[in-house]
Amino acid sequence: MTELYDLAKRDRLAFWADQAHELYWHKPFTKTLNWSDAPFAKWFEDGQINASYNCLDRHVLAGLGDRVALFFEGEPGDSKVFTYSELLAETKKAANALIALGIESGDRVAIYMPMIPETVIAILAVARIGAVHSVVFGGFSSDSLRSRIDDAQAKLVITADGGFRKGRAHPLKEAVDQALQEGNCPSVEHVLVVERTKNDVTFGPKDTWWHDALSNAATEHVAAGFDSEHPLFILYTSGTTGKPKGILHTTGGYLTGASYTHRTVFDLKPNTDVYWCTADVGWITGHSYVVYGPLANGATQVIYEGTPDTPSFERWWQIIAKYHVSIFYTAPTAIRTFMKIGREIVEGHDLSSLRILGSVGEPINPEAWNWYKEVVGGSRCEIVDTWWQTETGSIMISPIPGAFKTKPGSAQRPLPGITIGIVDELGAPVEKTAEGSVAGYLTIDEPWPSMLRGVWGDPERFKETYWNKFPGKYFAGDGARFDEDGDIWLLGRIDDVIKVSGHRLSTAEIESALVEHHWVAEAAVVGAKDEITEQAVVAFVILRQDEIADAPSETDIAKILRDWVTQKIGAIARPRQIMVVTELPKTRSGKIMRRLLRDVAEGRPVGDVTTLADSSVMTAINDKLHLGASD
Ligand code: WTA
Repeated sequence: MTELYDLAKRDRLAFWADQAHELYWHKPFTKTLNWSDAPFAKWFEDGQINASYNCLDRHVLAGLGDRVALFFEGEPGDSKVFTYSELLAETKKAANALIALGIESGDRVAIYMPMIPETVIAILAVARIGAVHSVVFGGFSSDSLRSRIDDAQAKLVITADGGFRKGRAHPLKEAVDQALQEGNCPSVEHVLVVERTKNDVTFGPKDTWWHDALSNAATEHVAAGFDSEHPLFILYTSGTTGKPKGILHTTGGYLTGASYTHRTVFDLKPNTDVYWCTADVGWITGHSYVVYGPLANGATQVIYEGTPDTPSFERWWQIIAKYHVSIFYTAPTAIRTFMKIGREIVEGHDLSSLRILGSVGEPINPEAWNWYKEVVGGSRCEIVDTWWQTETGSIMISPIPGAFKTKPGSAQRPLPGITIGIVDELGAPVEKTAEGSVAGYLTIDEPWPSMLRGVWGDPERFKETYWNKFPGKYFAGDGARFDEDGDIWLLGRIDDVIKVSGHRLSTAEIESALVEHHWVAEAAVVGAKDEITEQAVVAFVILRQDEIADAPSETDIAKILRDWVTQKIGAIARPRQIMVVTELPKTRSGKIMRRLLRDVAEGRPVGDVTTLADSSVMTAINDKLHLGASD
């Protein structure tokens, strides 16, 4: 594996061209990178490729049609197996069904689904005909779904009657109906509904059952090549402002990045490994490491519909034992949850098939890293702590198994082909000394194939957010430092993005949801340190006295506002705590000092208040603390 580092160092572009050549190109490319319109990159621009063909047809044509692509495990205990041939056959029918509904290349299709095989099939069918998917996490509310559908102007929504979560059928079609009601989302012409939970759904003129559409569809579909820079998908993610950004990824470069990193970081042996990534397809990890990376590499993988605690916390470990999972990829929050429950629950299962363990989504503390290695990995597995983002499309910083000694808590090195820097506020590289470096801002210094190509419909926002702070470099929004060996330690976000259980949320988005409630005059949200979820949402609100004249107690108000956020954004954004205050700490120029609110939320003595316009505000907030409500 170490030779990859040398190859990439010697000729970075030739290295990337080699990785791209691992894929099937309908028309081979001759140009690797066009960076003349930076920061808008074009990778492999004169080539043509089909992502779905690379994930399916190619393997079947190579004689691997009988290899299992998906072992599906439903939450209620049902299971299903799809070979590559079967997955291809279903995807072809689905592609024809989409065409029959009038979907053409370039049209946007919203996908709002549980973790079931049809979701993977839907994604691959959309990609197969050159349409653009926008997967919306099934835990988002109908309001969030509506704004994403509108922003992308989706023509079709693919959903399910429901999905099983925590032992009950979580309704999805109902949320789609709400998003579309009263003439909202006029771009949507059709809704395709997969039957999963058999709960009651109301059908209107736009609705068609997925199984009807597929049984009426032709079985053959020949995949055409699309330009390498043809849009593949949009995925909305939270930034520093209230409005989520539609991160745009295109075909050739993205697929190159997803497949290269998947086979390299996980040391994939496609004919023997069983791979399982626990992420939902609603997040980038699900896109790159459930759908595109593993399938482009011909891997055999497990997908699981439900939560780790249903029917009991034994579930994940039973699944690993049942399918002999050898590569397992999850988030530190899950590891910390199991640490708290105790090692017995893990140790009662035969996990000897495990070989590689991955971590993603938030910094993994050394204690959790060691526990993962020892208790889950029986001290024999390699741990790969992988740093990346929705925007980077694929893993950027991670150890490669066997290439060097891993270190608890550090993601260590950029992957071959990736150039990472850490700079100070002025953009100068931080000084590396024998003790390491001070903390700085993480940058990516050269373009890479799976980089985002923009923010959907907002090219200026793309430049401004990622490229203006340090001209010529991609600014990731994370703090980092080098240690004495030159290894990278990620220090978390330096902006108003927070990570709750690995889910990415924006404090500004939660604040705007809160002030939409007629009781709330002002709101400030911070991410407070949490033992399990890394960060938790804590909100401070000022109420409108005129609106709450006969309102319930503050505890009830807090509960109602927490429910409100769930309804507006989704349960993942529900504040752990809401504190009703009479003022917020502001500087003389009116900027909210979140640092001080974080001190309060984390139960620390409040730091320096000298820049506050009114320093007595913090005393008043502290005095009120006991009135806050929490789950
Ligand atoms: C954080 C998830 C430390 C980071 C793939 C980044 C991490 C944000 C790690 C992106 C890691 C992700 N160590 N922090 N291994 N992986 N992050 O877009 O702050 O949901 O900027 O992508 O997650 O979150 P996103």
